[in-house]
Amino acid sequence: MPVLEILEYPDERLKQVSTPVEHFDADFQRFVDDLEETRLAGPGAVGIAAPQVGRFQRVVIVDVSKMRKPVSNHGHLVLVNPEITDWDGHAMGREGCLSVPDYTGNVIRAERIHLSAQDRHGAPIEFDMEGFEARAVQHEIDHLDGRLFLDRVVSRRSDVFRRKVYKKS
Ligand code: NI
Repeated sequence: MPVLEILEYPDERLKQVSTPVEHFDADFQRFVDDLEETRLAGPGAVGIAAPQVGRFQRVVIVDVSKMRKPVSNHGHLVLVNPEITDWDGHAMGREGCLSVPDYTGNVIRAERIHLSAQDRHGAPIEFDMEGFEARAVQHEIDHLDGRLFLDRVVSRRSDVFRRKVYKKS
């Protein structure tokens, strides 16, 4: 399975709105596997969205179950045509993104969401989510609508932070 190339900010293609998945065929299953391989190749990424690898279809992968500090979660999720149907509360939290490798940012998100989606074979699924998992899903769905966390920060001057640079030896 190949690791796909990740589009990085300010690539204009990241602003493209993705279209719904209609065919859950072998080509799509292969793509989902490649997308997961690409997520795992990244530095501890809890999520990835198809448009980040230049495929403008509404599918994301989220898995916050491996966090160092355990958080409420539903395990490894492939979410196809995901839709948030209910929101509650809001909280500020730090986010990173494979498409914005050098920065993190403080973003306000809903604290709890109700999510409707399809699984990778097209079966309907629904979840109530909270905290970091809800945040990760909101971040990934933004990618499907052409938005990055940079578009959500209140101020790019005070809410965006340069990552520490780790020298490769
Ligand atoms: Ni991202």
